Amino acid sequence: MRGNDDWWRDAVVYQVYPRSFADGNGDGTGDLIGVRERLGYLSELGVDAIWLSPFYTSPLNDGGYDVADYRDVDPRFGTLADFDAMIADAHARGIRVIVDIVPNHTSSEHPWFREGLRDRYIFRDQPNDWESIFGGPAWTQVEDGQWYLHLFDPTQPDLNWDHPAVREEFRDILRFWLDRGVDGFRIDVAHGMVKAEGLPDVGDDLHVEMLGHDSVPYFDQDGVHEIYREWRPILDSYQDGRMAVAEAWVSSPARLARYVGPDELHQAFNFEFMMAAYGAKSFRDVIDKSLAEAELVGAPTTWVLSNHDKPRHVTRHGGLARARAATQLMLSLPGSAYLYNGEELGLPEVLDLPDELRQDPAFLRSGESRDGCRVPLPWTSSDGFGWRSPWLPIPSTWGPLSREAQEGDPGSTLAFYRAALKLRKEHPALGGGELTWLDSPKDVLAFRREPGLVVLVNFGETPVASPGEVLLASGPLAADGSVPPDTAVWASAGEG
Ligand code: NOJ
Repeated sequence: MRGNDDWWRDAVVYQVYPRSFADGNGDGTGDLIGVRERLGYLSELGVDAIWLSPFYTSPLNDGGYDVADYRDVDPRFGTLADFDAMIADAHARGIRVIVDIVPNHTSSEHPWFREGLRDRYIFRDQPNDWESIFGGPAWTQVEDGQWYLHLFDPTQPDLNWDHPAVREEFRDILRFWLDRGVDGFRIDVAHGMVKAEGLPDVGDDLHVEMLGHDSVPYFDQDGVHEIYREWRPILDSYQDGRMAVAEAWVSSPARLARYVGPDELHQAFNFEFMMAAYGAKSFRDVIDKSLAEAELVGAPTTWVLSNHDKPRHVTRHGGLARARAATQLMLSLPGSAYLYNGEELGLPEVLDLPDELRQDPAFLRSGESRDGCRVPLPWTSSDGFGWRSPWLPIPSTWGPLSREAQEGDPGSTLAFYRAALKLRKEHPALGGGELTWLDSPKDVLAFRREPGLVVLVNFGETPVASPGEVLLASGPLAADGSVPPDTAVWASAGEG
């Protein structure tokens, strides 16, 4: 399946967290066979592409973002042959496949680290004051007294991107997966890799959050853009729409826009949208800022509400009705939308996992855990939800949220996602085209997306009149046809 080089511009991409998505061999860990078996489900959902979080050989200390072999599949996820079979089936169904690439660090189980090739990592006689994103110092001492840098877990040593062998290795890894047919890459910590000359102390600004820093000496350095200028010609040489999307936690849409362009990457995740509080003003502000920057770089932006690192948006936004309204808003914005597996079932964050079962390395270092959004998906409503001893327990209350329970229920969240993606395909202007804001009350967002299609989201506390004949609503309308609080609609309306 090739052609349409610009497919990613308005694509709906579904993130598969392989460990939690579907278990093909019954060992309690999701795998590539599981993904392959669910391609029919994904096709019916209507996604254009899947992005697979890492499935490479790994000790899974950080869920696979600690890679020991970038050119192989961890036995818990399957084999390269399973990958090949999965991608062939996906392409046959018209679903593109994006894989993760993790270039900021390897696992400490990677042969380079195990064999002591220290020049490929960042070793020093003395640590500086940098802290790990997962909490605690970013340096660990080895037997001979030297220290190595790890912006994340000690089992994730940072690579030295000044070393030509590191650069060559990653160009080669890109080609390895491109030759296997992947349609693109999601670049992990894409704002990392290059550190400021001399590794200066951070000083008073010591504790650093992921979002909002272009001033720290280890993120968003100018030199990182050189790497992407080396990578882009590799992607372009395939001449058939291979793309890359950056995970870059930077301080503003303007900084983010620097990663995107014809000589760098195709897209970057718009985390400002994910982090925006639920409400008319905060969403409007971030939409305006994002669209302005997209215009500057001449490429559409991305929209994302949930992923494997943040609490699910059902919980963050305050309930399912709000999450569905926010989702419908996202799906009507120009650009591409990234969905996170399980959001189509309306899964909430699991808040009460027993501490001893939590596996996120950040939990051990800082007490903050991302396990609650990584609980395996409930496929059936009984019999262990389709899992034999899943790696994290599935809440016993999730029966009604299972795929099986929602199948055939026209009011279900699953039916809502399917209908929304289908309509989005039928109205290409929903993902492309202009957005024109319409006058609306304070707690309501309303805009026109194509001649005749109006989007309205009611964030207020009282119902508002529908702008026209409703094509899709994120929840039930009032008896008089008006739009209740926490509800979004797409309506056909006169050209106005
Ligand atoms: C970002 C990934 O999304 C996250 O899950 C991981 O822990 C860090 N990068 C480190 O690779």
